[in-house]
Amino acid sequence: MFNLLVVGGSLLGVYVILCLTVLKMPRCKSSAKLHGKTVIVTGSNTGIGKATAMDLAKRGARVILACRDPQRAEAAVNLIKKESGNNQVLYMHLDLASLQSVRSFVENFLKTESRLDILINNAGLATRGKTKDGFGIIFGVNHLGHFLLTVLLLERLKECAPSRVVTVSSDAHKFGKIDFDCINTHKKLGLGDSALALLGLYSDSKLCNVLFTHELAKRLEGTNVTCFSLHPGAIKTEIGRDANLWWKLVLFPITMLFFLDVDSGAQTSLYCALQEGIEHLSGRYFSKCATVDLSAKARDDATARKLWEVSERLCGLA
Ligand SMILES: NC(=O)c1ccc[n+]([C@@H]2O[C@H](COP(=O)([O-])OP(=O)(O)OC[C@H]3O[C@@H](n4cnc5c(N)ncnc54)[C@H](OP(=O)(O)O)[C@@H]3O)[C@@H](O)[C@H]2O)c1
Ligand SMILES: *[C@@H]1O[C@H](CO)[C@@H](O)[C@H](O)[C@H]1NC(C)=O
Repeated sequence: MFNLLVVGGSLLGVYVILCLTVLKMPRCKSSAKLHGKTVIVTGSNTGIGKATAMDLAKRGARVILACRDPQRAEAAVNLIKKESGNNQVLYMHLDLASLQSVRSFVENFLKTESRLDILINNAGLATRGKTKDGFGIIFGVNHLGHFLLTVLLLERLKECAPSRVVTVSSDAHKFGKIDFDCINTHKKLGLGDSALALLGLYSDSKLCNVLFTHELAKRLEGTNVTCFSLHPGAIKTEIGRDANLWWKLVLFPITMLFFLDVDSGAQTSLYCALQEGIEHLSGRYFSKCATVDLSAKARDDATARKLWEVSERLCGLA
C-alpha cells in the first residue's frame, strides 16, 4: 500500500514536472492589432485553425474561414463573431481536395476582397481516399491544394506586402520522404492504406509543407512577402477522427495526459503570422514560438525545387 503511494506520488510528480517543462507551450507575445487587414485560414471550422481564426478576429482582422463544409463553417463563423465581437468574419467555400474548388475560391476571393495580408495554410488530414482529381487525399489536401492556393494568391500578397504565408506542418515531417516516382506513377506519396501506411503518407505530406516553404521563401526574396512552416505541438483536435476503435482506445489516455488544448496549438501559427522582426527568418521552421533547425532532407534545395516543379505540373500551371 505504502509502496503504491510512493510510486503513484512519484509518477504524479514526474507528470507535473513534464507539464511545467517539455509540455509547456509558450504564448505568442505579439500585441499586433489587425484592423484593416485581411487573413485567410484554411480548415478553420474546428481544431487549431478555429483557435487561430478566433485570435486573429479578436485582434480586429477581417477573417476568411476557408472551409469545405458549409454547416460546420457557419457554426464556427457565428461562434467566432460572438466571442470576438468582430463582425468581419466570413465563410468562403474551399475544398482543398479539388483543384477546381481551389481555383473557384481564389477567383471569388480576388473579386470580392480587396486585400490579403496573411494566408494560413492550416487544413490537414490523415485519412484514406482520393481527391476529385485522383490524387491521394493526404498529398492532395495537405500539400497540392495548398500549393495551388498559395501560388494563385501570390500576386495579391505581393500587392499587400509586408504580408505572410504560414503553413502548418508537423514534427512528423522528420519521418517523411518524397518518392517522386510514386507521385508520377500513382499520383500519391506512397502505396498502402493500413493505419501505419497512412501515418507514413501524413509524414511525407508534412515534409512537402516544409520543403514548399523553403522553396517559396527563395522565390519571394525581395518582395517583402515572407513565409514560415511550423509544428503546432501535440494538440487535442479532431485529426484522429477516422482512426479505428483500437487506436482511439490506445490514444485516448495519451491524448488526455500529454496533448494540449487548441488555444495552445494556435500559438506558433500566430507567432509566425504576427511576430515583428522575424522577416529575415523567411523559409524557416518553427516550434513552440521559436525557430528549430531542420535536418538536411527538409531543407534540400534540389528536392524543394523539384517538388515545386512537379506540383506546378500536377496543378496544370506549367
Ligand atoms: N493536432 C495535432 O496534434 C497536430 C500535430 C501536428 C500538426 N498538426 C496539423 O495541424 C493542422 C490542423 O489540424 P487539427 O489538429 O486542428 O485537425 P482537425 O481538428 O481535424 O482540423 C482539420 C481541419 O482541416 C479541414 N479540412 C480537411 N480536409 C479539407 C479539405 N479537403 N478542404 C478544406 N478543409 C479541409 C477540416 O475540415 P472538416 O471539419 O470539414 O473536416 C478541419 O477544419 C493540420 O495541418 C495538421 O496536420 C496537428
Ligand atoms: C520592402 O520593405 C522595405 C522596408 O519597408 C522597403 O524599403 C522596400 O521598398 C520594400 N520592397 C518592396 C519590393 O516592396
